[in-house]
Amino acid sequence: MSSVDSQQRVLSGMRPTGRLHLGHLHGVLKNWIQLQHKYDCFFFIADWHALTTHYDTPLTLEEHVLDMVIDWLACGVNPGSASLFIQSKVPEHAELHLLLSMMTPLGWLERVPSYKDQQDKLKERDLDTYGFLGYPLLQAADILIYRAGFVPVGADQVAHVELTREVARRFNHIYGREPGFEENAQAAIRKMGKKAARLYSNLRKAYQEQGDHEALETAQALLKEQQNITIGDRERLFGYLEGSGKMILAEPQSLLTKSSKMPGLDGQKMSKSYDNTISLREPLDQVEKKISTMPTDPARVRLTDVGDPDKCPVWQLHQTYSDEKTRDWVVDGCKNAGIGCLECKRPVIDAIVAELEPIQREAEQYEKDPDIVKSIITDGCDKARDNARETIQEVREAMGLGQW
Ligand code: TRP
Ligand code: SF4
Repeated sequence: MSSVDSQQRVLSGMRPTGRLHLGHLHGVLKNWIQLQHKYDCFFFIADWHALTTHYDTPLTLEEHVLDMVIDWLACGVNPGSASLFIQSKVPEHAELHLLLSMMTPLGWLERVPSYKDQQDKLKERDLDTYGFLGYPLLQAADILIYRAGFVPVGADQVAHVELTREVARRFNHIYGREPGFEENAQAAIRKMGKKAARLYSNLRKAYQEQGDHEALETAQALLKEQQNITIGDRERLFGYLEGSGKMILAEPQSLLTKSSKMPGLDGQKMSKSYDNTISLREPLDQVEKKISTMPTDPARVRLTDVGDPDKCPVWQLHQTYSDEKTRDWVVDGCKNAGIGCLECKRPVIDAIVAELEPIQREAEQYEKDPDIVKSIITDGCDKARDNARETIQEVREAMGLGQW
């Protein structure tokens, strides 16, 4: 596989921060589950990334990793469609990170917004470390090692994908220039056969002389179809379309995940750090209890007090879980004091219980048989490694380390 197929590849990672909650299900996992049908997906646990901030509490990591993969599987992430693996089991990520670190300007990392933001936010941790500064570069290596075309991430991660693009561009610029590039590219064109060669040359001309972007895309599609040229030649021809060097690393795009509307029990965003979550494996009676005791519009002290759904976090849950008819019933009953808050919460409780029940049943099966989970991860790691090895070998060669 070469940069040419990368349009079809999706990669995303999650730090193993513990059990997942409803916010993850509606924000991230449902998105992954859709993507896995359309793309060649790689999803992984970013355990090294967790160590950049939690280097002083490593012992809990391992448990979190297994729990998290169980949650993915129980929600419907399908190991038949997506490769699931663990970052630290694919050491090629680390080698690429190291090699990229040689050519990445320090200022690029210092200017990534999350660097200062997180240092301010996590004041209790000492994040003045080499590893933490390198966080986004490690992420760039995660992405580039698979030549992923798309990276589903939340808004807070878009800057990291942007950095990844810049690093790829710089890498290709520095190391994609081989002696005799032009001649090699011309020879590669001829290897495609007469018809494809003529088409490629015309499209390249249309793009380079008239800036015709459609021609560029057509030419890229043409290259993707070519069966009988080597990976190296393909990279040359991709690079030759746009400039003067090989495209060894592919520039990815972020697929912005819509921020989940899932509110926590207090109406703020659902997040472990606010202690306002319903975890995917929350005992169901506990779900009922948590929602029953969750605050509502403070104006509704007595049943006869009218309320305003816009001031109530339960209403936000209705927006995820209830149909229009139920929502009309809520608005009317709240504004006219026709229903009590407990009554209003009932459909939400029922919907969440109905959503979690099958997930928990699945999770229980996996919990009983962690060997199955481990073998899924081992398979995913093997597949990831096969792909990562190809890229790292080309990177080594491009950087003059390939001969041994
Ligand atoms: N930094 C990401 C987060 O905190 C996790 C992550 C690590 C990641 N490597 C990645 C996401 C590569 C996408 C692609 O959520
Ligand atoms: Fe909230 Fe429903 Fe109570 Fe209105 S009736 S305050 S929407 S819980």
